[in-house]
Amino acid sequence: MWLSELSVSGFRNLAEQSARFDSRANLLFGPNGGGKTNILEAIAVLASGRSFRSIQDSQILGFDAPHFRIAGVAKTERDRAYNARVYFSPAESKHYFLDRKEIGKRALFSGWLPVSVFLLDDRRLISGPPAQRRAFLDDAVGKVSRTYRFLMADFRHVLAQRNALLKRGGGPAEYEVWEKPMAELAADIADRRRDYWKKFTSHFHLMSARFLETDELKLEYIPSVQAGEDYAEVLRKGRRLEEKFGHTRRGPHRDDFRILLNRRPLRAFGSYGQQRMAALALTLAEAETALTAGRRPVYLMDDVAAELDDVHTKLLFDLVKTKGQLFYTAAKPPAVEGKRFHVKKGKIRQV
Ligand SMILES: Nc1ncnc2c1ncn2[C@@H]1O[C@H](COP(=O)(O)OP(=O)(O)O)[C@@H](O)[C@H]1O
Ligand SMILES: [Mg+2]
Repeated sequence: MWLSELSVSGFRNLAEQSARFDSRANLLFGPNGGGKTNILEAIAVLASGRSFRSIQDSQILGFDAPHFRIAGVAKTERDRAYNARVYFSPAESKHYFLDRKEIGKRALFSGWLPVSVFLLDDRRLISGPPAQRRAFLDDAVGKVSRTYRFLMADFRHVLAQRNALLKRGGGPAEYEVWEKPMAELAADIADRRRDYWKKFTSHFHLMSARFLETDELKLEYIPSVQAGEDYAEVLRKGRRLEEKFGHTRRGPHRDDFRILLNRRPLRAFGSYGQQRMAALALTLAEAETALTAGRRPVYLMDDVAAELDDVHTKLLFDLVKTKGQLFYTAAKPPAVEGKRFHVKKGKIRQV
């Protein structure tokens, strides 16, 4: 899929405007603070319902705007068009629409357009908290499996019910009501993650070998519940203690992964540069996995040239240019082919 049109209003510093994009490469350039990253962010919010920079929607709302609205048209290779829209106001919170139908949950909306984000100054996937890696993984699996999105939405629902019960306390029968579906959903989720992880890992190894030529990187999945464990029993045994915490401490919502660099944790022993390259390999692997599942990715690359040397920038271009649609920001336009846009003071103008 590729994004053919984007309209924004009330989003960060962006003026109310529309733009039409190229199905291959789109190059956005202009002065610092002009709004280049904000455009990529708007595309990411349209694709996944959330920003890669702020958790709070009130931060991405334009300073004086009562609400924001991001709308877009995306086309498939067979020219089927999808219309999507995200609306937010502090009073009404956020709403998602796909082909004029409202989608009630972000988890179900996210991934309708498979976007992969490259922010090289940001090593959140390596050194950030586990929640960021889980969000990355859930988005990634959700892009290749709609069923997975439904499973996760259902799991979050029953998890919230059990957590509410833990806070107020309840009898065994009340717990059973939520723990049984939780265990069933968790098993299904674990299967799909395992399947995804196998493919993802092999792409990651290929990609990390290209960008970290001399180092050996290894991905390690850290499940909260082991494959041989009975999750229903884990939940049952955990009730007493978890009532003290008021939430469920084990389950698929607590999985994590880590990267080993020459057999040591990258987050502790890797240099800034190594961590950045590993983060890049993770994003590339995610896009490659989507691609092999038949979903052509949209690559959002924010200022990558500022952090990569020329050889790696060219390598990155060559890796993605034929594989999906590219949005690429830089202070100066790069010497590559594509539709060019100048972005200044929140306005985007084709040049
Ligand atoms: N919520 C907001 N409302 C209005 N302007 C904002 C908001 N958040 C950030 N900005 C402004 O957006 C600009 C930064 O835009 P950005 O896309 O990061 O620029 P760049 O072109 O350098 O990538 C800054 O001028 C900043 O003040
Ligand atoms: Mg920027």
